[in-house]
Amino acid sequence: MKTIDNFLTYKEENKKITMITCYDYWSAQIIDKSNIDAVLVGDSTAMVMHGFENTINADIEMMAFHTAAVSKGIKQKVLITDLPFLSHLKGRNRLVDNVDKIFKAGAGAVKIEGTQNTLEDIGYLVKSGIPVMGHLGMTPQSYHQFGGFKLQGNDDVKSNIISDEAKKLEDAGCFAIVLEMIPSELAKKITASIKIPTIGIGAGKYTSGQILVLQDLLGMNETFNPKFLKKYMDGFKLIENALNNYDKDVKESVFPSENESY
Ligand code: KIV
Repeated sequence: MKTIDNFLTYKEENKKITMITCYDYWSAQIIDKSNIDAVLVGDSTAMVMHGFENTINADIEMMAFHTAAVSKGIKQKVLITDLPFLSHLKGRNRLVDNVDKIFKAGAGAVKIEGTQNTLEDIGYLVKSGIPVMGHLGMTPQSYHQFGGFKLQGNDDVKSNIISDEAKKLEDAGCFAIVLEMIPSELAKKITASIKIPTIGIGAGKYTSGQILVLQDLLGMNETFNPKFLKKYMDGFKLIENALNNYDKDVKESVFPSENESY
């Protein structure tokens, strides 16, 4: 998928959209060769790559730094970068400066969480030629408001609020919306009620597409096992075994052998 227009055509043609997060050059090269449709430099990098407890410590420099690395490896796909915590809420000039940094680093779209105090600015960005992806449900930058990473929209009042927000994001000009950790029936209703595609994570199977964090899908974190996650390999064990094999070979003088020597 090369342009954001493809998001809409995929939905119109009932084709599922696949997305994955990426924070670095080497995995970007692999993703670029894969069938995955689009790539997100997520602010989850603060947790996955930098070891923070939540995404609040991501800032615009961190996002631009990772975007620059990823964009060197992603040539065939749409590249979207998260606007991190508060970076879009400090006035329009700073918002535009921050988008400028992200785009100069190589992104082709930004993702903005929530609708509180953001709708007008989203409309402004879209009218200025900046594609914007929305993000509703369990928006991790509201970690403290939610009291942790918890399912959202699980009663009538809250689910109606999220449905209304989805319409408002569509009206503001978003080209797609991430729906995170909401009941699948709510995701189904939202997906049917708007024209733009929904991309789910912990939102069931009725969304227009799915996104996962690359390291979660690869099983790199033994202790992260939320209900919504499917691990496609045990990356932690594979890498640990490779490291232990290398350690053993060196200690037993098996590596380097004549083959690996000059
Ligand atoms: O930062 C991130 O990785 C995200 C996805 C989980 C949607 O926002």
